[in-house]
Amino acid sequence: MLRIEDLKVNYGPLRVLQGISLGVTEREIVALIGGNAAGKTTTLRAVAGLAPTLMGKIVYKGLDITALAPHERVNLGIAFCGAERQLFPEMTVLENLEMGVYNVRHYVRQFWDKSIESVYELFPVLKTKTHQRASSLSGGEQKMVAIGRALLSQPKLLMLDEPSLGLSPQMVDELGQAIATLNKDGLTILIAEQNLSLAMGLSDRVYLLERGKILEQEILEEEVLW
Ligand SMILES: Nc1ncnc2c1ncn2[C@@H]1O[C@H](COP(=O)(O)OP(=O)(O)O)[C@@H](O)[C@H]1O
Ligand SMILES: [Mg+2]
Repeated sequence: MLRIEDLKVNYGPLRVLQGISLGVTEREIVALIGGNAAGKTTTLRAVAGLAPTLMGKIVYKGLDITALAPHERVNLGIAFCGAERQLFPEMTVLENLEMGVYNVRHYVRQFWDKSIESVYELFPVLKTKTHQRASSLSGGEQKMVAIGRALLSQPKLLMLDEPSLGLSPQMVDELGQAIATLNKDGLTILIAEQNLSLAMGLSDRVYLLERGKILEQEILEEEVLW
């Protein structure tokens, strides 16, 4: 479904991705793991069109999307949920969720009730807090809003950047279950995580990134078996 070929990204003179190649098959959960500054976020942002591709190719459903604008990628079914929650703190839960369909071309108003219900089904606590300001929610609830907002664009491929960041272990478990449910319902998921137990527990396959490169499978096995 997604193929990244020899992707190189620079920030100014700094080469951040040194030629990344990876693939995600439909209905898979694939995790990018690796320490700080390895290039996980940049990889996801490049797929979303939010980081500049210097060289290489990003192919989604057989279509070369390397040069497409971020909103065009959203319209093709690619959603990205960043590690920082980036909610509008003064707006309500519902208003924040509504931002998820802002500018989405294929979005049809008549689907709203059904899709918002499916977000509330996944995260029941949000339904009870529909009209509360986002800033009044716990960290975990804010994360649910951010993921819910990404889901409302009706993605086929959901990219989650460090969903566990800053959450309690119990919340990480709950979120892991929600992610597994989404996948069972047909969503393909690419996740960047430093929380190894979450990443390994959820995913079908992992790629280990280090300094902008994907390490070989053998190294991965050594490093993860410590
Ligand atoms: N917007 C940016 N401008 C300059 N450098 C950046 C920017 N974003 C990330 N970097 C650098 O790119 C490298 C990879 O970062 P990142 O993709 O965020 O790694 P990770 O998500 O694995 O922690 C780091 O050295 C980071 O400092
Ligand atoms: Mg990151």
